[in-house]
Amino acid sequence: MCGIVGFSSRSTSAVRPLVSGLSRLEYRGYDSAGVALESTAGVRVFKQTGKVAELDKLLKRELPEEERAKYTLGIAHTRWATHGLPTVANAHPHLADGGRLALVHNGIIENYAALRDGLERRGVEFVSQTDTEVLAHLVAAFDRGDFLAAVCEALKRVEGTYGIAAISARHPGEMVVARKGSPLVIGIGEKDTVVASDVSAIVAYTRQVIYLKDGDVAMVTPDGVDIHSLDNSPVSREVQEVDWDIGAIEKGGYDHFMLKEIFEQPDALANTIRGRLDPGGGTAILSGLNLSPRELAAVRRLVIVGCGTSLHAGMVGKCLFESLADVPASPEQAAEFRYSNPIVGPDDWVIALSQSGETADTLAAVRESIRKGALVSALCNVVGSTIAREAGRGVYLHAGPEISVASTKAFTAQVTALLMTALKLGRTRRLSREAGDRLVREITGLPDLVRRVLAQSEAIARIAEKYASASDMFFIGRGILYPVALEGALKVKEVAYVHAEGYQAAELKHGPIALLSEKTPVVALLADIPGKEKTLGNVQECRARNAPVIAVATEGDETAAATDAMVVPKTCPELAPIVSAVALQLFAYHVARLRGCEIDQPRNLAKSVTVE
Ligand code: AGP
Ligand code: GLU
Repeated sequence: MCGIVGFSSRSTSAVRPLVSGLSRLEYRGYDSAGVALESTAGVRVFKQTGKVAELDKLLKRELPEEERAKYTLGIAHTRWATHGLPTVANAHPHLADGGRLALVHNGIIENYAALRDGLERRGVEFVSQTDTEVLAHLVAAFDRGDFLAAVCEALKRVEGTYGIAAISARHPGEMVVARKGSPLVIGIGEKDTVVASDVSAIVAYTRQVIYLKDGDVAMVTPDGVDIHSLDNSPVSREVQEVDWDIGAIEKGGYDHFMLKEIFEQPDALANTIRGRLDPGGGTAILSGLNLSPRELAAVRRLVIVGCGTSLHAGMVGKCLFESLADVPASPEQAAEFRYSNPIVGPDDWVIALSQSGETADTLAAVRESIRKGALVSALCNVVGSTIAREAGRGVYLHAGPEISVASTKAFTAQVTALLMTALKLGRTRRLSREAGDRLVREITGLPDLVRRVLAQSEAIARIAEKYASASDMFFIGRGILYPVALEGALKVKEVAYVHAEGYQAAELKHGPIALLSEKTPVVALLADIPGKEKTLGNVQECRARNAPVIAVATEGDETAAATDAMVVPKTCPELAPIVSAVALQLFAYHVARLRGCEIDQPRNLAKSVTVE
């Protein structure tokens, strides 16, 4: 689930590229790291628990500069433990064939126990508790002189998901990589080839990349890349150009990626919108959806699947589809949907939301929906990601790489993309051209509206100071702002480790109000939308229980009932979730900063959850 880097060159030492590649993947969350290097003398492995910096220190101690030049091939890994504790023994690379073969793996080998039994019966000794070690021994067992064939034979016996990279002293200069359910990208540099589970580790070397597909196995040598299918027949994959550069994944003067990404939102949203609005027709142009007016007119129901922040965006989407297009929409947690015998068919439009495009639960929901014959589209940020490819049609967010584990700009970009989709669907139905035009104008102004929220960062930081020591918080909103309450609570949980709960404003009095006291701040979403007056009533109920209330309110409309107010510009109801969410992102960020939290890589979390 975590990170893989591989490096192959004729002349450049692999050590530095591997370590800096791993550093680029740190944002994904991990617990240990390691590298394996190959030279004519064999394979050497270095592993360490904790951060990549610790691994780097180990390498500095044990591998002097003058020795490094001879290692021009290597593989490296950051592990997010699934099988076995985060120890040095369990860290990757795993060895086999008496230390000649090294392998790194992302994902889970589901039938590892049976495979391990079989190998142990044949005398293989295991040194770790991981599922991965099985794979290393299995490849070694099938190695009869052709490395790629050995990997294919091993993988044919494996159930589960994998992205792997392997090297072997028996096959100098060869690196074999493969994927199924866990991403792998090959960067084709002028002199060097870099393999990684994520483009971020590649763009420092090249922007020319090949995205491997599930079932691909590739041989990487200094002479080039050969891609095969598991039955060892050659396949061809196009070389694509990454449309952003290294600056996009550096902090650029910000203390944290989270803050940088919050502040990138005006540009990110401008990119999401660019070329997709049609002022004359009062509609949106989303050619990636590849749906004819007839197909759009036939849609009976929408199902929006996702997890975490993406699910919250989907909940906003429900309100947008129902209000703009009069089409019933149900947001579904992807795993729940997948395992609930979902009743979807050709009249249902399933929209999958995923920043990474690799979330296992969302991918499973996409596959199930395709299997059942539904119309399936994906709204993803990462170009070439599995969900985007398998859905076959959709809308890329173009929000730029999101490095912080806590999703921020992807959320607002998802809501913006959903709004444009709802506008398009609405215009094939009941939405008039005038109403469509009005929305086109509002969406065009969105980057500026977000800029105005960002200008409040200092003021929001002062409010955060008052409440940063709270151990519980509540977030309330109604209608289209209810999902924003959930998202605000999620952000505070993730980055500030504060227990926080989001509720429909009307629901608080049905139970949770029992918990309110002067120690439980309530963040109330009070931007100008229908029903705001009712939420104001709920605010009074909170104040009557002595709970401090922090309003997120429209400029000039700050309620006297609130203890504090974060101010957002006046918008149409459709855009209120976006400006309100930006204020809550800043609030969570400042609370986390004041509590001294590790903001970009919160404990226990991984950037993309590729296990079910
Ligand atoms: C967001 O802050 C989270 N880290 C998490 O909930 C995330 O949104 C979820 O795992 C879904 O990821 P995806 O959008 O890449 O599919
Ligand atoms: N399942 C493997 C392990 O626990 C790989 C984990 C990962 O993807 O980082 O070691």
